[in-house]
Order: sequence, then C-alpha cells, then structure tokens
Amino acid sequence: MLLVFGSINVDIAFETDRLPQAGQTVLGGTYRVSPGGKGANQAHAAQRDGMKTTFIGALGTDSMAAQASTLLEQAGVDLNWLQHLPGQTGCAGIVVDSNGENQIVVAPGANQSLRAAHVPDSVLAGADALLLQMETEPLENAALAERAKQHGCLVVLNNAPAQPLQPELMRVVDVLIMNQHELAVTANALEIKDGDATDQLQLLAERFSLTSVLTLGERGVVACKPNASPVTLPASHVQVVDTTGAGDTFAGVFTAALVKGSTLEDALARGVVAAGLSCSQHGAQIAQPLRDETDLALAAYRR
Ligand code: RIB
Repeated sequence: MLLVFGSINVDIAFETDRLPQAGQTVLGGTYRVSPGGKGANQAHAAQRDGMKTTFIGALGTDSMAAQASTLLEQAGVDLNWLQHLPGQTGCAGIVVDSNGENQIVVAPGANQSLRAAHVPDSVLAGADALLLQMETEPLENAALAERAKQHGCLVVLNNAPAQPLQPELMRVVDVLIMNQHELAVTANALEIKDGDATDQLQLLAERFSLTSVLTLGERGVVACKPNASPVTLPASHVQVVDTTGAGDTFAGVFTAALVKGSTLEDALARGVVAAGLSCSQHGAQIAQPLRDETDLALAAYRR
C-alpha cells in the first residue's frame, strides 16, 4: 500500500491566451472547478495506475469540502483517515495559457492544520511507501517521515512547492523529486552551488544516500543514485493542453511503480509517460490516465 500525506484543494482554473503580468487584467475563456491539491493529485494518480493508495489530508468544514474529494472517492482511494478540520478547504486559483503553461496561487486553509499525529501507527505499519509534498507544514512532514522510516517505509519527497529542506529531513528521505526551480532552491539551501543540474543531483544523491530525480518537462527526466551513472530519459510526445498537475502525476505513478518493484529506469519511464498523458487534457486529477492507458502509451514510447 502507498500512503500519500499532504494537501487537498479545489482548483478554480481559468483559460487565457496569455498569463497576466503584475497589475494587468486579461480576459479569459471558460473556467472550471475541479478537485486538486498536490497530495490528492498524487494519490489519485497512483490509485488510477493500479496501486492500492491511502490518502491522509485535511478538508475544511465549508461547502467546498465535498467537491475536493469526489474524484478520490470515485477512484477508490482509501479516505478513512481524511480529516475534516475547522476552517476553509484549500483552494487554488489557476491560470492556464494557450501553451498549457500555468500560474497557481493557493489559499491553504485546512491543509495548514494537517498533523503527523493524524496518521496512526497502524496505517504506517501497512504502508510500503510514504509520499510527501511541501504544500502542508514542513515540520509535520519531517515528523511523519521519521516515523515512516522506523516502520520500514520507502520515503519519497516531492519538494513542491520548493522549500529549503533541513539536513535532518534529507537523512530519512530515500527518493527526492524536484523540477528545475525546486532543485535550485534545494541545492542552494544545502550550499550545493557548483556544477550543472546533473552534478548537483549527483551530489545530493551521494551526500544523503538517496535517489534524486529531476523532472524537466518537455526535456524528460534525469535521476541519480550514489556511485552510479545518471539515468536520462526523454519526454513522451503529446499535444500539450495544460501542464497543471503533471509533476503530481509523475510523482504518484513513479512512486507506485517503485513500490511494485520496477527498476528505477522503468519507474521513471512510466512516470514520464503518465505525466505526458495528463498534459493532453485540461485539469489535474480529471486529466490523469488509467493504468491501461499508460500501458499503451508506454509501449509506444519504448518503440
Ligand atoms: O500541482 C498542481 C496543484 O497545485 C493543483 O491541483 C493545485 O491545487 C495546487 O496544489
């Protein structure tokens, strides 16, 4: 079982030709309201890829709460420990331009009140892996990662949105996933300044005995392990409509594949292909592929 601990939001997404500059109003097209949040998106991606997934996050007590969890429920994610805490449900305002690029602002609401203590030991005992992101309190992530490690879980951290990570947290992380901006923030906070992105990934891997993964969007993915050559894979070819949640799809599907025993290279390929598919439609969870769809696209990717 994969345990995902993290954020859950309602996304309000607007389509426009171009993203607004500071002080600018742009007229858009339609807007859509759908479930999101990095944690929930990752759990949804993993479950749709066939992994038995438990999600622990926090909804508010407002009218948005029900909508935030609808797709998780439909997909069959275990929500037995989903919290309902006083206050607003997290909400993200998203603008997507005609190239599929986006800008996102999040009002975290109840996500800020999610605590490691909301995860019982019995759940950790049944988990093969714990997947975390940084849209909830970093100290709670660190506390839960420590406990998960004691239970023998694989600990996977997606440092999104980017935060400086404490060395104490890095020591219990087995796999660290970042995009370019997130790598820059991570490396800078740990005073890793020399070399290019791959050098920095390799240094992170060696210093903290972990697997470091850099997602590069249309340029694919690179991963480093201690004392091994970097693994580099291209992106899959898709017509990009909306990149919202592509990183979450990668993190969920890649981690699910690792839990199922895939090699690093196979897990990366599966994550890249699923993330590509998720860019071919609008929205975060609603755009995530089912296992069979990823299987088909993966076969074409390997040809
Ligand atoms: O990564 C995409 C997600 O970021 C959106 O679903 C939004 O809710 C924000 O958390």
